[in-house]
Amino acid sequence: MLRKRISPIVKKVPKWGLFAVCLCLCLWLGVAQAQSRPAAEAVASAHPLATAAGIAVLQSGGNAFDAAVTVSAVLAVVEPYGSGIGGGGFWLLHRQSDGKQVMIDGRERAPLAATRDMYLDRQGEPVPGLSIDGPLSAGIPGAPAALAHIAENYGRLPLRVTLAPAIHLAREGFEVDPYYRRMAGFRVEALRGSPAAAEQFLLKGDVPPLGHRIVQADLADTLQALAGQGAAGFYQGEVARKLVEGTREAGGIWTLQDLAEYQVVEREPVVGRFQGHRIVSAAPPSSGGVILIEMLNMLEQLGLERYGSADRVHLMTEVMRRAYEDRALYLGDPDFVHVPLQQLTDASYARHRIADIDLNKASASEPMPGVGRPEGQDTTHFSILDGEGNRVAATLSINYPFGSCFVPPGSGVLLNDEMDDFSIKPGTPNAYGLVGNEANAIAPGKRMLSSMSPTFIESDDKVAILGTPGGSRIISMLLIGTLQAVEGAPVEQWVGRARFHHQYLPDHIQYEPGALSQATLQTLERKGHQLRELDDVYGNMQAVLWERDSGEVSAASDPRGIGASFVNYPPGSE
Ligand code: DON
Repeated sequence: MLRKRISPIVKKVPKWGLFAVCLCLCLWLGVAQAQSRPAAEAVASAHPLATAAGIAVLQSGGNAFDAAVTVSAVLAVVEPYGSGIGGGGFWLLHRQSDGKQVMIDGRERAPLAATRDMYLDRQGEPVPGLSIDGPLSAGIPGAPAALAHIAENYGRLPLRVTLAPAIHLAREGFEVDPYYRRMAGFRVEALRGSPAAAEQFLLKGDVPPLGHRIVQADLADTLQALAGQGAAGFYQGEVARKLVEGTREAGGIWTLQDLAEYQVVEREPVVGRFQGHRIVSAAPPSSGGVILIEMLNMLEQLGLERYGSADRVHLMTEVMRRAYEDRALYLGDPDFVHVPLQQLTDASYARHRIADIDLNKASASEPMPGVGRPEGQDTTHFSILDGEGNRVAATLSINYPFGSCFVPPGSGVLLNDEMDDFSIKPGTPNAYGLVGNEANAIAPGKRMLSSMSPTFIESDDKVAILGTPGGSRIISMLLIGTLQAVEGAPVEQWVGRARFHHQYLPDHIQYEPGALSQATLQTLERKGHQLRELDDVYGNMQAVLWERDSGEVSAASDPRGIGASFVNYPPGSE
């Protein structure tokens, strides 16, 4: 039947015509082929040594997933204030051959001996510092298991190869830069509390001078064990014994069972749509993807593009306020609590949520005590695209700068203080001023809620890979970056644009110096917003853009940080 319909048409086409059709088809296939592959590979990360190591792995036959292992491990060595194998993170992967998209959840878990009120005193008040400094503040690390998992299931190269640059840098050392000094200065007191941490990161108990080499021989040995034995090299045997003995001797509660039981989880990313773009982002136990998509849904319904700049800031603030309130109310580890994911990311919910937004008047958040600290570039993000179109967006953390500031002797592993991301007491703000409730209460083996939001933005004409550190502000930074990407701004603007933020509580718009014009500030004040200009800039976004039409690739590192991006066109391709 079908053939009958087609044959008369074919008959009418003369021979030269058929030739032309074939030629066009071949050309079209050629173009389609070019479009399915980027013309270059790229890495953007928070440290030049990590970017260089990632590019080197890509050049030596590794794919984006191999490079992700290398970049994660090098960052663990040279950015000890940001992430590490004593911490965790989320690696968002896209495999080009079959389109598989998955989030590798290497988030830390509460130790099995953890209890709901473990950071409260007899009066039920949080004990200052207990969830931030020392071994009691550390969750069971997920990063080593995640690296082994990525290498075994997605990479092409063995860990022996992909971990080699990190092992080399740990053994030979790297030079202290001004940023290291700033972060170490912020945490010097806590670092002094752990002899092994002080030995590794300070010089005679003080912040080391510029150019001093940070050599981490114990860390090199631990990475070597991971390279040789995979996850078992960290979670079992000698390393595990050192970690457990070291934490327990200093008042921690880790057991060998905690380490032996740690498993990464492959989760489906959260997916939404915004102005014809597909948004793919981190799933719970990160709040990032859910809240980002909820905010975008609200903005789409509001028709943000119709408004002038002050009204845009007002509407974005109102949208942030509502989504961050939902974060506090509903989000937690999906293996422990029901997270109403479908509802929160549904367009009809967004419609309901924006119903009480007044264009002329700020809403009010329920008052609660809120502190928070200046937060910036601890925690880390990198974005990678390889020449086949495989990609990785990964945000990794040990939480506070230098995490818990505790190193179990002989391990070289700086432990996270991610336990502070739990709601240690309902309604009490954590280090980022974030409040939470039951959904994020502490329970043995539970993952603490995160804001880390590695994200892909996809449309017919582009693929964007982005993310940033910044505690509670991560998600609003992603919102601003996503709007830029969707509007077609160059990648430098996504990472560089001045930022503002609202997180429900404390009830004020925080903004980077100079981010909002005097006219905008006056309009916002008239509408009833509280405004707080920050002393410093924040965030450290790393982004890669692949324009599918041309195949062109660009990448950028946030000018606020010391990171580097590199786009590598194969020789002769330009
Ligand atoms: O998982 C989280 O949301 C936090 N632990 C991230 C901390 C962070 O980004 C610190 N950055 N400035």
